[in-house]
Amino acid sequence: MVEGEEDLIANLANLAAALKQTMDFFWVGFYLVKGKQLVLGPFQGPIACTRIDFGRGVCGTVWKEGKTIVVPDVDKFPGHIACSSASRSEIVLPAFKNGSVALVLDVDSDQLNSFDSDDENFLGQLIRIIERHL
Ligand code: SME
Repeated sequence: MVEGEEDLIANLANLAAALKQTMDFFWVGFYLVKGKQLVLGPFQGPIACTRIDFGRGVCGTVWKEGKTIVVPDVDKFPGHIACSSASRSEIVLPAFKNGSVALVLDVDSDQLNSFDSDDENFLGQLIRIIERHL
């Protein structure tokens, strides 16, 4: 889907739509590293927080630690940022450019325990494709 299109935002927008349509996630989208914050990028689902500080919430922690985090129950993740009270579990994956996190993919579910190693594996493959376009 992304081959032949060079524009990052256009590609992220279609990827968010494809994931939402096919997987029926509650919320799926990207936060882009801009200076000292993550800024909301293309997404599908309810409106969301626009800015997240380094080290804050699940997304800011993934940016800081540079590794994927699976949260089975958001109420048990200290500092979780609740953009929607309906969100119950989530997975956030980092994408790297030149050794630094350039963006994160955040997928939220309205059910507990929605994500496992299969999600981490296959969403990780998607991240590798995105990284080739960063
Ligand atoms: N829950 C995320 C914030 C983003 S929204 O869920 C879309 C976090 O704690 O980083």
